[in-house]
Amino acid sequence: MEKILVLDFGGQYNQLIARRVRDQHVYAEIRPFGKMTPESIAKEGYKGIIFTGGPNSVYDPASPHFDPKVLELGIPVLGICYGHQLMAWMAGGDIESAAASSEYGRIEFTAGDSPLFKGVPRKSICWMSHTDYVSRVPEGFSVIASTDQCPCAAMSCDEKRLYGVQFHPEVTHCQFGTQILHNFLFDICGCAGDWKMADFVETSVRELREQLAGKRVLCALSGGVDSSVAAVLIHKAIGDDLVCVFVDHGMMRKNEGDEIERALGRRLGVNIIRVNAKDRFLSKLAGVSEPEKKRRIIGEEFIRVFEEEARKLGRIDVLAQGTIYPDVIESGRGDSAVIKSHHNVGGLPSVMDFEEIVEPLRYLFKDEVRAAGIELGIPHELVWRQPFPGPGLGIRVTGEITEEKLEITREADAIFREEIESSGMRSQVSQYFAALLDARSVGVMGDARTYGRTVVLRAVTTDDFMTADWTRVPYEVLERASSRITNTIKGVTRVLYDVTSKPPATVEWE
Ligand code: XMP
Repeated sequence: MEKILVLDFGGQYNQLIARRVRDQHVYAEIRPFGKMTPESIAKEGYKGIIFTGGPNSVYDPASPHFDPKVLELGIPVLGICYGHQLMAWMAGGDIESAAASSEYGRIEFTAGDSPLFKGVPRKSICWMSHTDYVSRVPEGFSVIASTDQCPCAAMSCDEKRLYGVQFHPEVTHCQFGTQILHNFLFDICGCAGDWKMADFVETSVRELREQLAGKRVLCALSGGVDSSVAAVLIHKAIGDDLVCVFVDHGMMRKNEGDEIERALGRRLGVNIIRVNAKDRFLSKLAGVSEPEKKRRIIGEEFIRVFEEEARKLGRIDVLAQGTIYPDVIESGRGDSAVIKSHHNVGGLPSVMDFEEIVEPLRYLFKDEVRAAGIELGIPHELVWRQPFPGPGLGIRVTGEITEEKLEITREADAIFREEIESSGMRSQVSQYFAALLDARSVGVMGDARTYGRTVVLRAVTTDDFMTADWTRVPYEVLERASSRITNTIKGVTRVLYDVTSKPPATVEWE
């Protein structure tokens, strides 16, 4: 299988580089520079190498360096940002640092005549983030692009197929970044571009089979797409040596628990233990209405139930998790303020003892995970399920959680989802659900006064869930949902639509 090596020097966009390469149907794998040598690279048979950016200066002795022999392997190399400077440095060029030459953000650059810039206009916008710059290109290289501040925005040695760009072609702000990467992959490295998600599945299954041979693996299923895909992938590799525990806390959406059991268990043969722990959760939550306290109780109880089940299973060597790449970035984000104590299965290892953790999706983005799910035969509805928080309806029932309030929320949510889906606008909405207010309001039904419950419908549109806008759902859709909810769910007398974005609100109500 043809593949590209993304040699990681510690830059922040490394996964994005790999992602952009995979987008062009060429497999890319990221390897830390310290784990590779020119010899091991040559042995792997890469079609090309990309040196990533990094936070360092090549003159700093502590900064990552690499054996210059890598430039003599005959494999095309593209250096990006720090990778570009490092390549210049390794080949005998000069790097300088000057605050006056710093460039951050969108910058216009002028491209010269080079195979790297085929189809790129002479002037276009790139994305820069640097202080150091290449002040003299190495012998055999020529400057192929510049900006007002940066005399060498790109360089090349066509004969050895070595290229360096000071800017970041992988970020979307770089107008012709995709074209530049395409030129490198296809025209310079000679890739065929025949990689498919099926290849990822096949390779992962093979590697997992080797890595997990003779081991017993436990996976916590949350019902979300990530843990489902991870479980099915591992199941394909090691069959019944994988056991999945699905803790049903009684705060799932309508029919959700059964659907997961049916789709993964009965259809795909994954070994699932479903623990119906509703009563346990509800008794712990009785009388509690403070949102953070509710979240903490649900999170903790989840761990207790999971631990008890794991103990019953006897020897378990490995914990499997559906961590995906954005989780990896977010968990490394440091000490930003806790807005809500998020709960998901990612919280488990800190309280449990496992020899090993396996995270087969940690380099994939959400849409890639979905593509892998489809490839593995997971039903479309499950793969395209909208995100659902770990604490479930528990944070959509405001105030104290009771069985009655959960049931109302579950029914209202099912109706609203059906209406959104049958209106054909599902793909325009990122998340849509019903929540239940703690407040009652007066109504009239028949000729009698009522004092019933209030349902809130929420639909948001967002790319990353860090910020979100409320979705302009057509009145007719809201009208149908509202009348079905009040007509069919006993005790509901009022339906509201939430027109607040995030910030100032959050997506969930608690
Ligand atoms: P908020 O309410 O923080 O939600 O604006 C942003 C996104 O995160 C989901 N969410 C959670 N997901 N565990 C999860 O796995 C949680 O505790 C949790 N709380 C919120 C929410 O559904 C939305 O997609």
